Amino acid sequence: MSAVLSARDLTRHYTISRGLFKPNATVRALNGVSFELEAGKTLAVVGESGCGKSTLARALTLIEQPSSGSLQIAGQEVSGADKAQRKQLRRDVQMVFQNPYASLNPRQKIGDQLAEPLKINTSLSRAERREQVQAMMQQVGLRPEHYQRYPHMFSGGQRQRIALARAMMLNPKVLVADEPTSALDVSIQAQVLNLFMDLQDEFNTGYVFISHNLSVVRHVADDVLVMYLGRPVEMGASELIYQRPLHPYTQALLSATPTLHPAPSKAKIKIVGELPDPMAPPSGCAFHQRCPYASERCHNEVPQLRLLDARQVACHHAETINT
Ligand SMILES: Nc1ncnc2c1ncn2[C@@H]1O[C@H](COP(=O)(O)OP(=O)(O)OP(=O)(O)O)[C@@H](O)[C@H]1O
Ligand SMILES: [Mg+2]
Repeated sequence: MSAVLSARDLTRHYTISRGLFKPNATVRALNGVSFELEAGKTLAVVGESGCGKSTLARALTLIEQPSSGSLQIAGQEVSGADKAQRKQLRRDVQMVFQNPYASLNPRQKIGDQLAEPLKINTSLSRAERREQVQAMMQQVGLRPEHYQRYPHMFSGGQRQRIALARAMMLNPKVLVADEPTSALDVSIQAQVLNLFMDLQDEFNTGYVFISHNLSVVRHVADDVLVMYLGRPVEMGASELIYQRPLHPYTQALLSATPTLHPAPSKAKIKIVGELPDPMAPPSGCAFHQRCPYASERCHNEVPQLRLLDARQVACHHAETINT
């Protein structure tokens, strides 16, 4: 199978002015992320606030250019694309944001907003567009009379259904969803997650699903990418990572999320301290100041991702701490 999305060593640096008489600082918001995503599969990206999840989302959806690295969408290299190709690539990768209200036009009827992508990108007649919008609205659980309503007339969950419908209107190859359920009531979250999964089954879309919460993505993820301060620390098949996380950071994230069946043998690992200043990241392993297993080596040497127990992990002591 070929990948619909393939990222190679993506980085994104921001230069920040720190005020008069002070040198500019650089934030390495994204620091070498690689993965492949296949059609119909879901990659979950998880990590604490500020670890670079939204920066990755912006790079994948062509909202921002990466500082270096390469990105391929359905085999097409993004950096080498001309204007017409970029337009097509933008269609192929759609995004759903945390706050759907901000991405909807408050003055335009929902039906017209959903028809907009078809109007711009297809030669369908008005009636045909309307028909497709109605079909999509039904698919996401909205009623025909909702066509004439404005965004403020919907609940948060309904608005996220609308945002999802709009993202899916042109049948994209990839959907990037940045914390799509975080702003919703807990009781609504599961419904919206199920809707994401139903649409994926229907359209065979590849999903990049971003969340700070590992338990949210548990039932949707095929693969999981755990990030810390812009770097991937563990990546692999979802079952493997949930059953036996190898990186101390993944272990800490997992022991912070409640589960129905906690493994009896696993000691709880607490993350101590704050996330380090991204403008002045720690030397060596960025996690070492908060890691219970850190050694001299972790202080000095950046751990590279390496294959261990069928997944990638970036920890010098992954073997010893997991035996
Ligand atoms: N436009 C920008 N200019 C400067 N720094 C930025 C910019 N965008 C993001 N950053 C910095 O890059 C880092 C990663 O930010 P990002 O928004 O990707 O994190 P995140 O994982 O999405 O966090 P959250 O879970 O809070 O949404 C942060 O330190 C942030 O301050
Ligand atoms: Mg974010």
